[in-house]
Amino acid sequence: MDPRNRTGPSGDFRAVDGVTVRDLQPNVPVQGTLRSVRRDAWTLYPNDVIGRVWIILKKPLAGTALPVDDPTALEVFTTICPHLGCSVNLNANPSTGFTCPCHAAQYNLDGSRKNQATSVAPRGMDALEWKIEADPGDPNRQLLLVKFQSFKAGAAQKEEVK
Ligand code: FES
Repeated sequence: MDPRNRTGPSGDFRAVDGVTVRDLQPNVPVQGTLRSVRRDAWTLYPNDVIGRVWIILKKPLAGTALPVDDPTALEVFTTICPHLGCSVNLNANPSTGFTCPCHAAQYNLDGSRKNQATSVAPRGMDALEWKIEADPGDPNRQLLLVKFQSFKAGAAQKEEVK
């Protein structure tokens, strides 16, 4: 499995790294990174990558009051494929959605499965909760926060793994 998909701390809202909210364009997916403290038996990693997400702006945010938590404004999906956990890629033509490189499951931009009858994926891409708040360090900057969760691979229903 891709080490980027290893299990990390679950359940908290975390700021998404690598994404500037005001630069998001409608229906153009952008990948962001979630970081946190991670420990293994010997080492403490203070700012390790614990997950990646695809972010899709659904409607312009200009002039929207903060915090933004309108569920129709954005969609955020974990990059982890619900089949067996590989990292789902954006297609060369972004308007055609996503493809998993491991067993070729394909997803639409809204995260739903393509070719449902024959897809190896048991469900669509897993959406994550999000909110946009003012950055406490810079009130003019919008901060995208995502609730990091992992879900059971291979299951038809979305089931959180803690
Ligand atoms: S892990 Fe994505 S299609 Fe199998």
